[in-house]
Amino acid sequence: MSNVSVISGKSSEELARKLSKKIKANLVKSSVRVFPDGESKITLSGKISKKKSIVVQSIYPPVDTNLLQALSLISKARETSSQVIAVIPYLGYARQDREFLSGEIVTMKVLAKLFKGAGASKIIAVDIHSTIGFKYFTIKSQNVTAIPNLVKYFKKLSLKNPLIVSPDQGGKERAKEFAKEFGLEYIALHKKRDKKNGKVQIKTKNADEVIGRDLILVDDMISTGGSIINATQFLKKQKCRRVYVACTHALLMNDAEKKIRKSGVTKIVSANTIPGKTSVVDVSDTIAKAIV
Ligand code: R5P
Repeated sequence: MSNVSVISGKSSEELARKLSKKIKANLVKSSVRVFPDGESKITLSGKISKKKSIVVQSIYPPVDTNLLQALSLISKARETSSQVIAVIPYLGYARQDREFLSGEIVTMKVLAKLFKGAGASKIIAVDIHSTIGFKYFTIKSQNVTAIPNLVKYFKKLSLKNPLIVSPDQGGKERAKEFAKEFGLEYIALHKKRDKKNGKVQIKTKNADEVIGRDLILVDDMISTGGSIINATQFLKKQKCRRVYVACTHALLMNDAEKKIRKSGVTKIVSANTIPGKTSVVDVSDTIAKAIV
């Protein structure tokens, strides 16, 4: 794509570089200096296209810092480009998409105003937690999925009679899509939380189905690892073989990765929407398709 700039935010350098190569756009790098009080000073190096800029910046922790950097990059790009697309591979705050309890602020509504105000004409996210969050945006919004990329990776592994498993009913559709892409079957576990003691209980109608099989637990994101650990402990008790985890966004807060491995998970595989040890699946081709 001639006359297009990809502006690389600090949180998504690798993905921005890969995307710029895929769409043959000019890469504009940014450098960030964070002052002792937490303020970021961003400097861009490179020429911004007058026609179109694509800002790539994930909003993972430190969430508010990365969000403000994304908005600043968009605002700067809009000073030169007539069109600015915000590619936010991991869209933090997407879980705050409705008022669960009275008085709660729906932060996705705030984000919708901020992205528009900064000058974005379109926002693209990868596996947004729920597309409900996009209904507050008055600019164009698009969700793309990393599922085909993740499936491609897993197809190369030699798995024994694999089965796709969702750790809860909320992720059932995701597991179904993953299984369909793979040409496999899926099940979704029932997660029940005791309202008094907060303990989580896992159940499934078809526990026998997992015996002796390799399982792929599919989720959109891993934060503390709690959901994956509970599911793995349950599945191991049902005498499954190995447990693999496929997720788009591996936040892996604190020692989540260690705890997940300790629970019996053989391998965690995630997309490069968040850089890290487990982020071995590149989604730049999926994002490129949404742009051209
Ligand atoms: C839940 O609705 C999400 O899909 C994830 O399962 C959840 O956010 C993961 O969080 P954690 O790793 O803290 O259990």
